[in-house]
Amino acid sequence: MKHVIGLGFATAFAATMVFAEPVDPTAVVYEDGAVAVSLSGQAGDPDNGAILMNKGSGNCIACHSVEALSHLPFHGEVGPPLDGVADRWSEAELRGIVANAKVMFDGTMMPAFYKTEGFTRLGDAYTGKAHADGSVQPLLTAQDIEDVVSFLVTLKEE
Ligand code: HEC
Repeated sequence: MKHVIGLGFATAFAATMVFAEPVDPTAVVYEDGAVAVSLSGQAGDPDNGAILMNKGSGNCIACHSVEALSHLPFHGEVGPPLDGVADRWSEAELRGIVANAKVMFDGTMMPAFYKTEGFTRLGDAYTGKAHADGSVQPLLTAQDIEDVVSFLVTLKEE
């Protein structure tokens, strides 16, 4: 009996591992700019998403103001304020915008955060980080994107 339980547990664990495999940046499916499925295969953490909005490669508030983050200084005005953004866009649309805003907004200056090819200047700190082996890492990981999106869906005003 003990043996059977052990095997069942191992199978469930293996299934979780497969499910949690991140979608490669080159394999993301955009439908009208929206991405339906979690890029990491996991739910996002809105608290970490709020941190990424102001940190490192994310730094969204350099271009966007967010009332919910008003304790942080220097909100930019390059992009629209993100207050109530979840009333305007679905979760799938928000995921698509954060992963690669250029699909939704042709020619936008918002960086593509989950993209590793098609850059004109590889290695530029803001368009993609080239590694020693020449591979390019996206600005945010799949889980970072999910965390940011899970924060954005909390931004409702209605
Ligand atoms: C370099 C400036 C810049 C940065 C950095 C930036 N954005 Fe944007 N973003 C824009 C601009 C500009 C738009 C408007 C789209 C367009 O060009 O028409 C936009 C649009 C959006 C929209 C749609 C807003 C709406 O109300 O329609 C969302 C959501 C968004 N950005 C989220 C983010 C998040 C999340 C980050 C950080 C991970 C981020 N942006 C980083 C410039 C930026």
